[in-house]
Amino acid sequence: MTTVRHFLTLMDLSKSELNTLIQRAITLKQDWKKNISYTPLQQRTLAMIFDKASTRTRVSFETGMMQLGGHALFLSPQDTQLGRGEPIKDASRVISSMTDIIMIRTFAHETVEEFAQYSQVPVINALTDDYHPCQLLADVMTYVELHGSIEGKTVAWVGDGNNMCHSWMNAAQQFSFHLNIACPKGYEPNAVLMEQRAEYITLTHNAKEAVLNSDLVVTDVWASMGQEEEQQKREIAFADFQVNDELMALGNKDAVFMHCLPAHRGEEVSETVLEGKQSVVWQEAENRLHAQKALIEFLVV
Ligand code: CP
Ligand code: NVA
Repeated sequence: MTTVRHFLTLMDLSKSELNTLIQRAITLKQDWKKNISYTPLQQRTLAMIFDKASTRTRVSFETGMMQLGGHALFLSPQDTQLGRGEPIKDASRVISSMTDIIMIRTFAHETVEEFAQYSQVPVINALTDDYHPCQLLADVMTYVELHGSIEGKTVAWVGDGNNMCHSWMNAAQQFSFHLNIACPKGYEPNAVLMEQRAEYITLTHNAKEAVLNSDLVVTDVWASMGQEEEQQKREIAFADFQVNDELMALGNKDAVFMHCLPAHRGEEVSETVLEGKQSVVWQEAENRLHAQKALIEFLVV
């Protein structure tokens, strides 16, 4: 029996598999734009379980699956027995018996781990409180499209030590770049992960220090999904961590700005940076589609 591959964090694929996947995503994007039809997933189904809101993730997975010739099922807790307390291990066995691949966006990372443990088909983490690996595929792909390779570059993460930050930490190791993290005191990334990725990371509480001479500046919302009640407290704590023109000026000349979106203009990023020349956020968002098509192909075809 072959073991089922899952994509719960970037560490589930080898460095070489990740690099191949990024190149494949670029090819699939070019082919799609040339109207080349590629439908290896006919009669295959992707189950999409969403416990949290989404625009990009839902549109990209559903569209990507359709473009590959398959079908996507949108499952929300309101409409399934998951929302009424059906155990994860039961739902996983049932859903994976009828579908070919499963994508989950939820709160606790342990939920996707448990789902994967009981699933007979590949499970993709489409965001948990701890990681958002699909976003990193699109982000690295975008950097590669623009600059050829991210290896040896310096990336500055400015903001919360959250799920996106954790995935950037994994990416630093998997794609061999250096990550400067600037966050307010008390909002550091997970301490165990910090130790594991120490070789690739510099932690500071000063945004300017992190961005100085960097090739890529990344931020994210100050309050993630599930932290809405902390918004006001966080606005105070993160006041010195806005990515604005003054901060971007400290990066390298050809540095780009990324944000997984949705963005809060005037909070973690200024309107001028988000809409400015260095911002690649729309290309980054579009690349979710192409990167995840490559991921689905890798896991299923
Ligand atoms: N970046 C991202 O995952 O966006 P959504 O929350 O809209 O899916
Ligand atoms: N850190 C954000 C990312 C949204 C795509 C959140 O978890 O809400």
